[in-house]
Amino acid sequence: MMTSKQKRIIEKSYKLLIPESRIQQRMQEMGEKIDRLYEGKTPILIGVLNGGFIVLADLIRCINIDCEIDFIRISSYGDEKESSGHIKVLKPLSADIKGRHVIIVEDIVDSGLSLQFLKKMLSAFEPASLRIATLLHKKSRMKVDIPIDIVGFEIEDKYVIGYGLDDRQLKRNLRSIYIVDN
Ligand code: IMP
Ligand code: MG
Repeated sequence: MMTSKQKRIIEKSYKLLIPESRIQQRMQEMGEKIDRLYEGKTPILIGVLNGGFIVLADLIRCINIDCEIDFIRISSYGDEKESSGHIKVLKPLSADIKGRHVIIVEDIVDSGLSLQFLKKMLSAFEPASLRIATLLHKKSRMKVDIPIDIVGFEIEDKYVIGYGLDDRQLKRNLRSIYIVDN
């Protein structure tokens, strides 16, 4: 059953921003960077659900060194397009990350509030190191000063969908990334 909100999404138009081939090419480069940064180590990549599941799945297949994965699910947006800053953990980590080399894997960093929360929370488990990888970064929207170590693409301040990113839970299955034209 589709809600009326979801019906309106189907009627919206989308403008191609980053084609699938370009995403795959960049993902390869991000994987190579991780291979270099973590040579001789076994990092654990933590995918941030829901959006980060495709990024994590593709990224690990571009990494040649041994690595582990885990997922965490947080919510700050509900069905809105702006971060409320009120972040809840909906699914906690399963792995013990004490003394581990941790890479947080995000689909997109917008205000950076989710990341600030995650970084603080994961640091409390005393990992050996903690870095952030994100496919997309809306740099102009950052409200906090957090260095992002591995970035796929800096993008303009537009709402984007596809490749795991949703508009009210729909459109995650698109293979390329699109701007929503309201
Ligand atoms: P932040 O806390 O404002 O940095 O928000 C980060 C999270 O909001 C991301 O991990 C996404 O799940 C979601 N988000 C931010 N911008 C977009 C967008 O343009 N499209 C889809 N989801 C977005
Ligand atoms: Mg996310």
